[in-house]
Amino acid sequence: GYFETEDQARDAEVRAKARSQSRSRNAAVTVEDFRFGKTLGVGSYSTVKLATHLASARVFAIKVIDKGHLIAKKKQQTALAEKDVLKRLGAGHPGIVRMWYTFQDQWCLYFVLDLAKNGEMKILLNRMGSLSLECSRYYSAQLVDIIRYMHSKNVIHRDLKPENLLLDADFRIKLTDFGTGKVLDDDVDKANTWVGTAQYIAPELLSSKETSKATDFWALGCIIYQMISGRFAFQGLSEFLTFEKIKKLEYSFPDGFDESPKDLVQRLLVRDPSARLGVGPPGSEIDFDALTSHPFFASIVWEMLWTSQPPALE
Ligand code: ADE
Repeated sequence: GYFETEDQARDAEVRAKARSQSRSRNAAVTVEDFRFGKTLGVGSYSTVKLATHLASARVFAIKVIDKGHLIAKKKQQTALAEKDVLKRLGAGHPGIVRMWYTFQDQWCLYFVLDLAKNGEMKILLNRMGSLSLECSRYYSAQLVDIIRYMHSKNVIHRDLKPENLLLDADFRIKLTDFGTGKVLDDDVDKANTWVGTAQYIAPELLSSKETSKATDFWALGCIIYQMISGRFAFQGLSEFLTFEKIKKLEYSFPDGFDESPKDLVQRLLVRDPSARLGVGPPGSEIDFDALTSHPFFASIVWEMLWTSQPPALE
């Protein structure tokens, strides 16, 4: 399981030991403690299910990962990465899905996660087409704030997209799916595995397969564009053609696309990673003020971003 402080971890260990002595079992939480409900999402190597913790009646989302499948597809690293990253991020930000417990049995790994009652932003976008400027601004700001926190913990997500932006009961974002996440080594700021989803892949991944914090900023630009316009910034008739467009920075704004988000998107969708807004030369700190002070966010009260009432969805 995950604990916020070492003290809590030690406490829990002592309690777990006492429990295992009294009933000669050792795991703190097991699959038997939950009643599983409907399927919330299906990934390439996992299924997320609604689950009720029987003793507390609390509901969670449990990511169930099939061990056989993991091994067959050589994806053990993906599951480990997700667990490491979520542990590292802990309960530190309201916009990131928290991992409450992990356990396993003979067949599966189980990650007990926050339930995001209103599901994926992707579904919302499919249903609504685009979002109002005010909603787009609000969700863009939440995403900026989440990225700021994540990067401060030296974590890059590498697969930011509407599918991974879940919406909680109050329609605030909860970022999920850190299977592609990466904890950057303290002295190296680039990571070296290819990941991502065609429409949101940054050009540097297509040429050098090298990701950095700037990669998340590219995806941010793609997501802002999509929320406002209702379409992908880069979309070809095939994955190959999508990649060609990304490499050539071949995209355009539809008529009526508002000027201030247009300026922001243009500063994020820049081929040279170190020239994206807020990003500097390799090794330098990200300047988040450059993002938060952009005119598009002029009406955002950053201190209230996670406590104020979200704008009505339209
Ligand atoms: N789909 C995938 N993960 C989820 C979660 N944590 N809550 C709700 N739906 C999900």
